[in-house]
Amino acid sequence: MIDKQNRQINYLRISVTDQCNFRCTYCMPEEGVSCIANEERLTFEEILKICRSGAALGIQKIKITGGEPLVRKDLPVLIKQIKEIPGIDEVTLTTNGFLLADKIEDLVNAGVDRINVSLDTLRNDRFKEITRIDGLDKVLAGIHKAMTYPLKSLKINCLVAKYFNDDELCDLGRLAKFGKVSVRFIELMPIGMGHKLESMSKEKIKFKLEEEFGLLKPYSGKMGNGPAKYYEIEAFKGKIGFISAVSECFCEECNRIRLTADGFLKLCLHSKEGVDLKRLLRAGITQDKLTQVIAEATAKKPVHHHFNDLGINNIEDKIMAQIGG
Ligand code: 5AD
Ligand code: SF4
Repeated sequence: MIDKQNRQINYLRISVTDQCNFRCTYCMPEEGVSCIANEERLTFEEILKICRSGAALGIQKIKITGGEPLVRKDLPVLIKQIKEIPGIDEVTLTTNGFLLADKIEDLVNAGVDRINVSLDTLRNDRFKEITRIDGLDKVLAGIHKAMTYPLKSLKINCLVAKYFNDDELCDLGRLAKFGKVSVRFIELMPIGMGHKLESMSKEKIKFKLEEEFGLLKPYSGKMGNGPAKYYEIEAFKGKIGFISAVSECFCEECNRIRLTADGFLKLCLHSKEGVDLKRLLRAGITQDKLTQVIAEATAKKPVHHHFNDLGINNIEDKIMAQIGG
């Protein structure tokens, strides 16, 4: 699928639920988070129908996100069914890792190709402060268990902010030393509660890592489906990556569209533009018509985000758990 900017769109991120077993301070308020009603959430059948249309249009990679996708019942069943759609060659998962140890076996049997685990700290007390859950040991156990399975990749996503976890960057980076995981540092985006923290530039993070580990050498090989830039460190088997959506806008190379848990096809993370596919699905739209609707919407994908502009209309006001990251 090609949009008006001539970008090839081959990647669909699907938020399977907006519910989450964590309450990360930068993502959600502690209380009073209103979740979408059960009947508003797309069923597996509806998600599969959208995937089939996507595949017909050249979507090859599907990312399962949330909220926390592993709280959705029978997720491995959905993954297996998506994998069976002709044209889909990868189904990947982004999780907070809390339920990973329990579910990894079923996920791998279902055919999941890659897993990303979000982890912003290695300190128990800080983990509890950030996520409002005492769960670091469970997440680490999940990561360790996942390391024993033959995934195409296992990555740790670490959101970085000043006075938040910037004193732990080397400890987090060191997880990549033995090569079972890569570690990616994510620049904070001014979305939802993310406005409350102060972001840290890639250059600063890189500088801190280089002080400790020596040169970070740009890596040109392919490492996944996204905009991360990867680096190698001589003594490290795993890679270090950076995703810097604000300071290094990668919209020009954007290859993705998004589906929210309540069935809205979002054309850009940062914009409200899109189509309510749930409404169409529940009105009985045919597979062919659905394919056409997705193609027409995608063609109109916004050119770029507006993180750096003020006073622009139509900007997304949802929190990350509703968008799916
Ligand atoms: N900016 C960047 N990443 C964010 N995430 C949540 N909120 C933000 C934000 N404001 C990330 C989490 C997780 C992923 C699902 O989204 O850290 O890794
Ligand atoms: Fe849950 Fe992810 Fe939001 Fe944390 S950042 S509350 S793990 S959806």
